[in-house]
Amino acid sequence: MTASESPAVSATEPDWSRESREGKGWSSGRSLLAAIRDYQAARGPLAWLLRASAVIRHRFWSVVTGADIPLNARIGGGLLIPHPNGIVIHPDSPIGPNCLIFQQVTIGAAAGGIPTIGGHVDIGAGARVLGPVVIGDHARIGANAVVLSDVPAGRTAVGIPARIVGEDRGNT
Ligand SMILES: CC(C)(COP(=O)(O)OP(=O)(O)OC[C@H]1O[C@@H](n2cnc3c(N)ncnc32)[C@H](O)[C@@H]1OP(=O)(O)O)[C@@H](O)C(=O)NCCC(=O)NCCS
Repeated sequence: MTASESPAVSATEPDWSRESREGKGWSSGRSLLAAIRDYQAARGPLAWLLRASAVIRHRFWSVVTGADIPLNARIGGGLLIPHPNGIVIHPDSPIGPNCLIFQQVTIGAAAGGIPTIGGHVDIGAGARVLGPVVIGDHARIGANAVVLSDVPAGRTAVGIPARIVGEDRGNT
């Protein structure tokens, strides 16, 4: 299958099946995310109880994974974190739907600002995305990159400091 024939992943419509734990067995990343989703979805007279339960689960899975993804993180649906170890995400950084974040990624503050991550952005292991940068939809960040400036939609950034390589991958 060529890239142009690959099924498109939406940058705007969350695919919640990507976070589903059904039939997936042990998945610490999905369990951590589920605690965050349940905390943020809690409504009604028993919301305090649902939130309290979510907080306990969030603390447990945060210890297990060593990830720091806050309960109030602004993450679009359909996030994949297959190896959640060491992921750190700033609570105010908006992250679009259907992103993929590998282990040891930091999305954090620097230079007086925080990153904005588009939809369907893949971020390779160990990458750091720092400061008031905007990562466009369908972009890719290479493993161990340090991203200090904007990455246009559909483009790939690698290296330290990150530079754009390759062609526009469109919406694949
Ligand atoms: C960035 C990435 C998506 C690019 O993949 P690609 O489109 O197939 O790109 P290519 O392999 O053709 O590389 C294009 C150029 O970028 C360079 N490059 C690719 N990945 C790089 C990286 N992580 N750091 C530095 N340079 C990198 C290549 O050396 C090549 O440079 P050149 O044009 O000067 O020869 C991929 O290399 C990557 O880093 N993926 C992350 C995977 C990951 O984290 N897996 C964890 C699994 S547990």
